[in-house]
Amino acid sequence: MSHDAVPDPLDSALRTHTDYGSEALEESDAAADPLEQFLAWMTEAAERKVYEPNAMVLGTIDPDGAPSIRTVLLRGADARGFAFYTDYTSRKGRALLAHPTVSAVIPWYSLHRQVIIAGEARPVEQEDSDAYFSARPRGAQIAAWSSDQSQPIASRDALEQKVRDTEERFAEEETVPRPERWGGFRIVPHRIEFWQGRTSRLHDRLVYTRAEGGEWQRERIQP
Ligand SMILES: Cc1cc2nc3c(=O)[nH]c(=O)nc-3n(C[C@H](O)[C@H](O)[C@H](O)COP(=O)(O)O)c2cc1C
Repeated sequence: MSHDAVPDPLDSALRTHTDYGSEALEESDAAADPLEQFLAWMTEAAERKVYEPNAMVLGTIDPDGAPSIRTVLLRGADARGFAFYTDYTSRKGRALLAHPTVSAVIPWYSLHRQVIIAGEARPVEQEDSDAYFSARPRGAQIAAWSSDQSQPIASRDALEQKVRDTEERFAEEETVPRPERWGGFRIVPHRIEFWQGRTSRLHDRLVYTRAEGGEWQRERIQP
């Protein structure tokens, strides 16, 4: 595509230079425990009305070694790790079951912040998947049964027909059971970076790394 083909609004967006403002992430303010720091930032992201503050871009490794990314919603963050839910037979599901190494970014652009997590993703306990699935709206439960995520389908009509078939199948059931192929993964982190944009691109980056004994060490890296 030639330069001339770039439409005006995009052209100005590409030329914009936002100077990230007044906020900082100093060692004296950051928690010693990265989970505590993460929850503090997540709380703030929600309070400051970030759109979908729990949206997380997840990078996995396909069986052929190629990286692959997509957005998922973070549904839990505690001492066990960072949980999200999906279809185990999807592209990401298969990738993770073969190769659990992941990297993920939670971008809070409007706050000039991002958190980058590296770790190993493991399926969550079945009871956790059951509990989360049962709390979802019925439409989403029906969709989970009706969609073989990441597989091709002939048309939108064919997909909607699968939904009707599923609705019929569970018409008499008060609750929709969790499909076995649907459930959670939990990322057990070994590295978590907190990035705070600052003026003139001199950003703050605090990286927490889990040491052999399980304790977290923290260092500042250059922007
Ligand atoms: C904001 C947002 C949130 C999403 N949340 C999820 C999620 O929690 N779980 C999920 O399986 N897909 C979610 N998706 C869809 C995925 O990005 C992706 O299309 C789907 O999981 C299939 O990915 P795969 O083919 O790489 O396995 C979300 C997409 C967006 C844009």
